[in-house]
Amino acid sequence: MSTREFAGVKARMAQELCGFSGSPKAFRERFTVANQGQYHRIYTAEDIRRIRMSMLSLPLDTVRAKTLPPILNFRMAKGGTGKTTISGNIASALAMMGHKVLMIDGDPQASLTSLFGIDWVSQNIVHIGELMRRAERKETVDIKGAVWPIYGGGMLDIIPADITLADADSWLMGTTNREFVFSRLLERNVDVFAEYDVIVVDSAPSTSLLTNTLMTACKRLLAVVVPEGPSTKALEILESNIQELNDAFGKQGLNLDFHVIVNRYNQTKKPHNDELAKLVSKYPSQLNDTIVRDFIGFVRQTDSFDEKNNGPVLEKEPNSVGARDVLDLTKSLIRMFDIKLADVNSLAPLASVGRAA
Ligand SMILES: Nc1ncnc2c1ncn2[C@@H]1O[C@H](COP(=O)(O)OP(=O)(O)O)[C@@H](O)[C@H]1O
Ligand SMILES: [Mg+2]
Repeated sequence: MSTREFAGVKARMAQELCGFSGSPKAFRERFTVANQGQYHRIYTAEDIRRIRMSMLSLPLDTVRAKTLPPILNFRMAKGGTGKTTISGNIASALAMMGHKVLMIDGDPQASLTSLFGIDWVSQNIVHIGELMRRAERKETVDIKGAVWPIYGGGMLDIIPADITLADADSWLMGTTNREFVFSRLLERNVDVFAEYDVIVVDSAPSTSLLTNTLMTACKRLLAVVVPEGPSTKALEILESNIQELNDAFGKQGLNLDFHVIVNRYNQTKKPHNDELAKLVSKYPSQLNDTIVRDFIGFVRQTDSFDEKNNGPVLEKEPNSVGARDVLDLTKSLIRMFDIKLADVNSLAPLASVGRAA
């Protein structure tokens, strides 16, 4: 079913992703993957998981507890701020650091689906809306059948979307407790979802019944803003959306929080600096320290002529400033959301990332 090929990263990057602080030679010697008598020059996400588990002294068959993993939902009440770019890149980085990741494309525009090379126009896709609808009608729900593999070994999977996801609000409207339809799907199929270390959800810009039901399943939303007036205005809209949900469902235990990620920052633009200063003073505790810079490589992620060439920067330009920002942001989200590697806190080896090589 997979439509694309991404072999993996070179030894130097693999070493950094593993947080191995010894010499490159020690890394190769200790973690050589036998490959016809040669050193394995390319490390897949699965290789990195195995290496990290060995560094953590975890048996390879260690499994997660049967509980839902952390859910990262990238939101903004405006298009073009980088929700898809950030969610796709974070998901890829988490997988390349050895976590098992499920992406859910929650946007009928299906740009996350395209970013990973799936041609949703010609493919038969069962999207998250369809899974939720079937579950609510007590029909059979085959979640595994809806999942497409992106990286081997179940390291990065996606439940893709297509334009028909735009229809979700029409049936959600008549559904009881519709704000919790997504949570119900997750909880009723915890066995499937618990196989992943983390779930990454991309969302549409609009405030809709679909975005609302996707939002309430996570504890803390990730608001992606560009440091520009229209984007910070949209953040106010998202804030009131969150407030309304908390007011309406607080009694049912909903207490949504949000965290702000600044994207496409260009330090040579004065308006960007002014807007960033405003964000810092308005959201002192919610703003992530890692600011993702404006980097043209993010635009090169999609090839308008051949979808098979699409892919996140970590795949296409792993040594770029864009990949650097993505990795820094990923590490901070691992801490914030307590994302684990097969149920073990993976922070200890991560602390040594950067000192490697
Ligand atoms: N940090 C960045 N630097 C440069 N271009 C970016 C950056 N982030 C996103 N882009 C570009 O901006 C456009 C919109 O990004 P996208 O992720 O599709 O936004 P959204 O999902 O919020 O609509 C895309 O062309 C993408 O390549
Ligand atoms: Mg998008």
